[in-house]
Amino acid sequence: MSSQSSYNDRVVRQFTIMTVVWGVVGMLVGLIIAAQLIWPSLNFDVPFLSFGRLRPLHTNAVIFAFGGSALFATAYYVVQRTCHVRLAYDKLAAFTFWGWQAVIVLAAITLPLGITQSKEYAELEWPIDLLIAVVWVAFALVFLVTIGRRRVKHIYVANWFYAAFILTVAVLHIFNNIALPVTLSKSYQIYTGVVDGMMQWWYGHNAVGFFLTAGFLGMMYYFVPKQAQRPIYSYRLSVVHFWALISIYMWAGPHHLHYTSLPNWAQSLGMVFSVILLAPSWGGMINGIMTLSGAWHKLRTDPILKFMIVALSFYGMSTFEGPMMSIKTVNALSHYTDWTIGHVHSGALGWVAMMTIGSLYCLIPRLYGKQAMYSTRLIDVHFWTSTIGVVLYAVSMWISGITQGLMWRALNDDGTLTYSFIESLKFTYPYYGIRLLGGLVFFAGMLVMVYNVYMTVRRTVPEPQAVIQPA
Ligand code: HEM
Ligand code: HEM
Repeated sequence: MSSQSSYNDRVVRQFTIMTVVWGVVGMLVGLIIAAQLIWPSLNFDVPFLSFGRLRPLHTNAVIFAFGGSALFATAYYVVQRTCHVRLAYDKLAAFTFWGWQAVIVLAAITLPLGITQSKEYAELEWPIDLLIAVVWVAFALVFLVTIGRRRVKHIYVANWFYAAFILTVAVLHIFNNIALPVTLSKSYQIYTGVVDGMMQWWYGHNAVGFFLTAGFLGMMYYFVPKQAQRPIYSYRLSVVHFWALISIYMWAGPHHLHYTSLPNWAQSLGMVFSVILLAPSWGGMINGIMTLSGAWHKLRTDPILKFMIVALSFYGMSTFEGPMMSIKTVNALSHYTDWTIGHVHSGALGWVAMMTIGSLYCLIPRLYGKQAMYSTRLIDVHFWTSTIGVVLYAVSMWISGITQGLMWRALNDDGTLTYSFIESLKFTYPYYGIRLLGGLVFFAGMLVMVYNVYMTVRRTVPEPQAVIQPA
């Protein structure tokens, strides 16, 4: 069979397997830092095991290695199936795989060594940033040229979300990382003071909006209808959802800088746009969940759909919570507390990880020419471990976070603080234990997934060549 008559699924398979691998690695590091917050001596006085170095390793591994590989895999799969054409530029696509893995390995070496720009989610130093920019431009070329070569007139909505995610992340990454290198491992940002803060959180928030949201919405718009075997509930709503989401997200970043030296009007603007953001976010959630209308019974027997629906529910919950936390008076309580950590993980574990896991279970048998995953029973086990894990994580952080906020602001009649910091810290210990337990349960599910994936793919000789569907 000529390569042009089949899809390029090799690169999809590579990214898919690495998603599972990096998911396990990133979450393992998450477990270690969760344990260190209970038993600080777990760093064994070794600098590269200290919390300050492992925490960025965790965030980079889960967001960019696990989430990033999942986005590459699904974007490449979806764009071919919906455009009825082979992925453009085989070699460039292979370069994006090896280039992205190189970025991850370099991150895993430099971050524990303490080589960092000290900008959250943009810690990597300038040589790695340059590599990221090159890989990302290659990704954009492969994806957009494939769309350009499509054999159907229409561009399916999932591709709009993927394209917005790819283009926006390129712009965010390049502008937030402009720096003057002084040595191979040290550079200085060109931005200073409050402008630096504003750039960083314009980047940081849109990393959430476009990396952790728009890209995964692209995944949702393809895999939920596919798994439910029903068309998307409302195509019109998906178009409104797309334009509203991408035009509002851009302005919400200042909610990360409330009560700082950022001008007050900018903080208020960020707050207002964040509150408005609730509407398109919920439009998307409703569109995803309602795709199941008329097929609700499938939820009883299909654990993959359960993953997707619970993921959408967490998406709805965290995009309700986020706008609330961006209201200045609420943020005065939540900022600096574990509430933020709870919000992050209800989005990251509940939405991002569960949507990814559900989509991979849908994708893997197709990629390896199998009828289904090796064991549906094990997918169900994984579903329950994930759900219980994320609930334990989020609830424990809400309780500890809100209590921290209340204890820190409690005043005696004479104006002195009611509680010392240590008292609030002592209060949080049991909840850190529950968070660790939640993480362990979630992680155990990932190990079940590794086994299930291994058993599904192990006897695949030769690799299947999926034929391009006629337009
Ligand atoms: C087993 C699963 C996981 C565990 C045990 C875990 C644990 C942790 C811990 C202990 C922290 C530091 C909290 C602090 O500084 O107080 C953290 C931070 C963070 N984690 Fe996770 N994590 C897990 C999975 C994930 C996943 C899958 C993602 C993303 C897709 C993620 C994204 C983040 C982010 C963005 C932060 C930084 C939050 C902030 O600065 O506000 N985590 N995680
Ligand atoms: C309408 C949607 C959302 C809004 C308006 C929103 C708003 C917020 C607010 C106000 C904060 C706290 C800022 C602070 O006090 O420092 C925050 C933190 C955060 N949110 Fe959201 N959020 C939304 C959705 C999400 C989703 C879906 C995810 C994950 C997939 C997410 C990930 C994060 C992360 C990682 C942080 C921590 C940033 C840091 O390191 O400080 N958010 N968000």
